[in-house]
Amino acid sequence: MLTRYAVILAAGQGTRMKSKLYKVLHPVCGKPMVQHVVDQVLKLNIKEMVTIIGHGAEDVKSQLGEKSSYALQAEQLGTAHAVMQAKEILSGKEGVTVVVCGDTPLIRSETIEALFAHHEQTEAKATVLTAWANDPTGYGRIIRNGEGFVEKIVEHKDASLEERNIHEINTGTYCFDNKHLFEALQNVSNDNVQGEYYLPDVIEILKKQGETVSAYQTADFGETLGVNDRVALAEAERLMKLRINEAHMRNGVTLIDPLNTYIGPDVIIGQDTVIYPGTILAGKTVVGAENKLGPGTEIKDCQIGDLTVIRQSVAHDSVIGSHVNIGPFAHIRPQSDIHDEVKIGNFVEIKKAVFGKASKASHLSYIGDAEVGSDVNIGCGSITVNYDGKNKFLTKIEDGVFIGCNSNLVAPVTIGKGAYVAAGSTITEDVPGEALSIARARQVNKENYVQNLNIKK
Ligand code: UD1
Ligand code: CA
Repeated sequence: MLTRYAVILAAGQGTRMKSKLYKVLHPVCGKPMVQHVVDQVLKLNIKEMVTIIGHGAEDVKSQLGEKSSYALQAEQLGTAHAVMQAKEILSGKEGVTVVVCGDTPLIRSETIEALFAHHEQTEAKATVLTAWANDPTGYGRIIRNGEGFVEKIVEHKDASLEERNIHEINTGTYCFDNKHLFEALQNVSNDNVQGEYYLPDVIEILKKQGETVSAYQTADFGETLGVNDRVALAEAERLMKLRINEAHMRNGVTLIDPLNTYIGPDVIIGQDTVIYPGTILAGKTVVGAENKLGPGTEIKDCQIGDLTVIRQSVAHDSVIGSHVNIGPFAHIRPQSDIHDEVKIGNFVEIKKAVFGKASKASHLSYIGDAEVGSDVNIGCGSITVNYDGKNKFLTKIEDGVFIGCNSNLVAPVTIGKGAYVAAGSTITEDVPGEALSIARARQVNKENYVQNLNIKK
């Protein structure tokens, strides 16, 4: 196999997006477009990947991290000029270079792999990935000669009326013989309507030099969609969502309403999990088998076991075990660790808390900065008082404890194993194991006192 290099074009501002956010950082199904592209390219055994950055250079760099090298294109003079910035890193190297635009988030590694294969098979110096577009407006058109071979690519703005009737478009993904690419780039001019150095002109240059140039047409136009404005962004979102959801359904996940289910590209879901409408699964969430999630539930960066139910709730950055029952209307905030068989009920907020096996907080509680043992019952309305306005403190509730309703546990405090806190208590000191703690004023009943109160009846 030839050594493979990749260049990702990501320096443009994306004027047509009308946004503060740089174009390639706009998310599709929760992941920035350029990250989608890079993740696909990285599956291809690439020796070195160079991302061309310009607008938002630092932001793009911190998004993509160290898997890529970077070349700065200080002024955006066109896609050929962009690739030229990789010269110092790549020129003179033996191998084949794939160039992909950072604004084509739906491109799949399988398609680029097929492009590589076609490139090698035809022994071409350049191979362009094309697609047939229903509406080719805005794309570069593929001009073929009488024998069907590619002659050149004409940008929409430069195209004649006749050329604009061509539906075969340049997807913006290409393979090049690396040495030929950098030599040809030196001959690209900016003599066109936009006054830019066009990368597609390399095709015509090589062709005129008598080199073999080929084209590989993919059947799926959707995969090559270039996002230049928010209308295309919404279309990319729609197509990506269909692709992701279909893959999960084929893997044995039930989506009651796939059009109204939002699953991030990196989410993993086990068989026979059922996802109800209005549910968002985001980030690096991993869901086991036979869970019921939703309706109306948002889960981000969580790990969830099997046979768990989460309804109308929000959970972030937490671990949730098996046979757990959460919601409706619960909020699991970051760094929570909820063990098997736990129940977190209506209007309960959990933050940075461990919940041991089979413990329950069924109604109206706030449990933050806490270590709750197993088989604990936290009564309705009980809360951990974890914050004094400056610092946060830990509440420890050991195994088998029963916290009566509407209790305040003022941290730092420990409730010993098997202890019992009477309803309405405000606990400020540790409670020993097996003790009953009552921390509230004793009730006084004054018989017939109401008649002395001089209240008008
Ligand atoms: C480009 C192609 C067009 C193709 C289409 C596919 C050219 C001249 N045209 O058009 O044939 O049909 O993609 O989607 O290449 N960029 C830079 N530096 C620059 C200019 C652009 O890094 O100086 C980056 C942009 O950030 C973007 C990508 O290159 O990610 C493509 O640029 P864009 O301006 O969107 O090109 P299109 O007009 O869509
Ligand atoms: Ca584009």
